[in-house]
Amino acid sequence: MTDFDAATRSMIRANQANWDERTPVHVASEFYGLDGSRAASDWFAPFEWDDLGDLTGFDVLHPQCHLGTETRAFAERGARSTVGLDFSAEAIRQARRIAADGGLDIEYVHADVHAAGDALSGRRFDLIYTGKGSLCYLPDLPRWADVLSGLLRPGGVLYVVEFHPLLNSLGPVPRPGEGDELLLRNDYLSGRGAVERDARRTYTDGPELREATVSYEWRHGLGEVVNAVIGAGLSVTKVRETELLPWPRWGSMVRADNGWWRLPESAPRIPLLYALRAVKPS
Ligand SMILES: C[S@@+](CC[C@H](N)C(=O)[O-])C[C@H]1O[C@@H](n2cnc3c(N)ncnc32)[C@H](O)[C@@H]1O
Repeated sequence: MTDFDAATRSMIRANQANWDERTPVHVASEFYGLDGSRAASDWFAPFEWDDLGDLTGFDVLHPQCHLGTETRAFAERGARSTVGLDFSAEAIRQARRIAADGGLDIEYVHADVHAAGDALSGRRFDLIYTGKGSLCYLPDLPRWADVLSGLLRPGGVLYVVEFHPLLNSLGPVPRPGEGDELLLRNDYLSGRGAVERDARRTYTDGPELREATVSYEWRHGLGEVVNAVIGAGLSVTKVRETELLPWPRWGSMVRADNGWWRLPESAPRIPLLYALRAVKPS
C-alpha cells in the first residue's frame, strides 16, 4: 500500500485495526457458526460450484479470506493447494487455528491484498476466489485487478462473488417511524471517495467493539468492477446477478430453496449479489 497517498494509507490502516477488533467477535458468533453449526458449504450458492467446476488438482488463492470460512471449502473439494490471504493478523491467526482444528491443509498468508504479488513471491494460481464483503474495502479497483491478474496462470480463473452495489445503496434497516419498504439511501456509483463508518456493532451477533470502531468503504458500481477486470487483461466469461443472499439482511426476507435468503414474492425482484468469472488468456 506504500504508493497510495497518505490519507488512503491511513484509512487502510484504520480498516486493518477495525478487522483485528471485529475478529474475536466473529469467531464467537452464531453468524459464522464456527462451533460446527455452519458448514463451509453454507457460504456458497449452487451456481458458484457450477461456474467453478471441478477443483481437483487446482492451486487456489482466496484473498481477503477473513476466518477462512469459505477458504475451507476449496481444501475440502480437492484443491491441490489452498492459500488464504488477509491483512488482519488476528484473522490469519484464527484462520490457521480453525484449519488446524479441522485437520485441513491450508496456508494462510498475512498481507495486504495490494501487496499480494510480493507476499506470494512469484507463485501462480489456477483459481482466485474473492468477495462477499471484500471489494468495498478497496480504494482502487484497477490496481487490485492488476495484482490478481498477475497471480493467475495462463488459463487461470478469477471468480468474484460480491454483494451487489444496489444492496449497499439500500438502507440496512428502516429508520424509527418508517415502514419496511426498501429505500435508496447510499450511492450506487463510486466517485465520492471513501465512506466513513463509526460503528460499535459489527454485522454479526456478539458484543460491541471496544476500540478501532472506525472503518472506510469505497463504493464500486458493477460496470466499474467489470472494467477493472477487463483492464487487467482478463476475459470476462460470465456475469450473474442474483436475488439470493447467504443471510437475511432485512426482516422481511424468506428462505430460498437452497437455504439462502431472498425478498418475499410481494417485493420487486432486484439483484442482491453478483458473480463474475474471468479467465487469463493462455
Ligand atoms: C467480510 S470479510 C470477506 C471474507 C468472507 N466473505 C467473510 O465474510 O468472512 C472481509 C475481509 O477483507 C479483509 N481486508 C480488507 N481490506 C483488506 C486489504 N486491503 N488487504 C487484505 N485484506 C483486507 C478484512 O480483514 C476481512 O477479513
